[in-house]
Amino acid sequence: MSSYLILIVAGARPNFMKIAPIIRALERHRDAFAWRLVHTGQHYDREMSDVFFEELEIPKPHYHLDAGGGTHAQQTAKIMIGFEDVVQKERPQLVMVVGDVNSTLACSIVAKKLQIQVAHVEAGLRSGDLMMPEEINRIVTDAISDYFFVTEPSGVENLRREGKREEQIFFVGHVMIDNLYHQVKKLQEMDDSAFPTATLKSKLGKYGVVTLHRPSNVDNAERLGGIVEALAQVANHIPLIFAVHPRTAQNLDKFGICLPDSIIRTNPLPYMEFLNLWMDAQVILTDSGGIQEESTALGVPCVTLRENTERPITISEGSNVLVGSDPEKIVAAALKVLSHPGQARTKRPALWDGAASDRIVDELAKLIV
Ligand code: UD1
Repeated sequence: MSSYLILIVAGARPNFMKIAPIIRALERHRDAFAWRLVHTGQHYDREMSDVFFEELEIPKPHYHLDAGGGTHAQQTAKIMIGFEDVVQKERPQLVMVVGDVNSTLACSIVAKKLQIQVAHVEAGLRSGDLMMPEEINRIVTDAISDYFFVTEPSGVENLRREGKREEQIFFVGHVMIDNLYHQVKKLQEMDDSAFPTATLKSKLGKYGVVTLHRPSNVDNAERLGGIVEALAQVANHIPLIFAVHPRTAQNLDKFGICLPDSIIRTNPLPYMEFLNLWMDAQVILTDSGGIQEESTALGVPCVTLRENTERPITISEGSNVLVGSDPEKIVAAALKVLSHPGQARTKRPALWDGAASDRIVDELAKLIV
């Protein structure tokens, strides 16, 4: 058994697709590394968590901290308390955090305070928007991490500007895209008629896909109402399938906002079923970070309901456009996409080739010799 132990942290849905290929790559190097997986429990619903572990072939976590729900401070504190016990017990050489969720922030702070080195995967991204909780998580995590694994050149530039040393920064590409290609291949080999939405997909033929969950879009009644109004106008041209995040579902209910019949509402979908829908969509309307990148990797047009993005390569080289939350701009951007079917740009960003996890493990192997 190797003596170099890595504790891998995952807590929320967008973390799960990132750790899956990293664990596969570490398993290919069992001679050099041992690893343990900690699920913070930030996301706890079956459809936000367990189904992802099953579909993405992620092994059962060694620890589950059960730290979901509550305010940001409550959630972050609960994760920190639970994770401190795990780190004390395991005394790993490295803690690996991914992405920008509260679990990323909480666990990097705990590790550093216990003098454990921290590697941040998907480091260096900056939206410049401190109203976004994720931007605070990214800045704090990068301020104290030791190793930075970066998905796109803007991340390298940001880290340099913030004073990180060259030997700490590794431009490796994107582990989430490793996972995407792995899952696309599996999807091509399976019978997709088993998905509950398969009949809907073939009945609609052409459709758009919607996801929304950012507090800035869904926590304010007027803002959410305006966005739903815009979606309704787009849905006059093409049916929309809206996979509704728990936060958004709660707020639609609370604000008494109803969706028109042309917007087909579903619960959050499992990874494969959702992929099966969006990869053939005419347009995606979203405020997600990851979907901007996954849609770029497959060249599917993406209209992002945000004023800024920490992932600028999805615009400069990909199929993404930013429209903010102004209903008129949302409708105009979606109709523009629909009037030019098949026009999305498909240039694949450098190193988004399915081998980012192997590059990370190779770099780690060099660091430990
Ligand atoms: C979190 C991440 C966000 C990521 C998103 C993907 C942070 C700051 N935000 O946002 O970056 O894009 O996950 O989904 O970490 N809830 C449930 N069941 C669950 C999980 C959440 O009902 O399994 C509800 C709860 O009411 C919870 C609320 O959704 O309080 C918000 O969940 P939380 O984990 O705080 O943030 P997300 O909005 O999911």
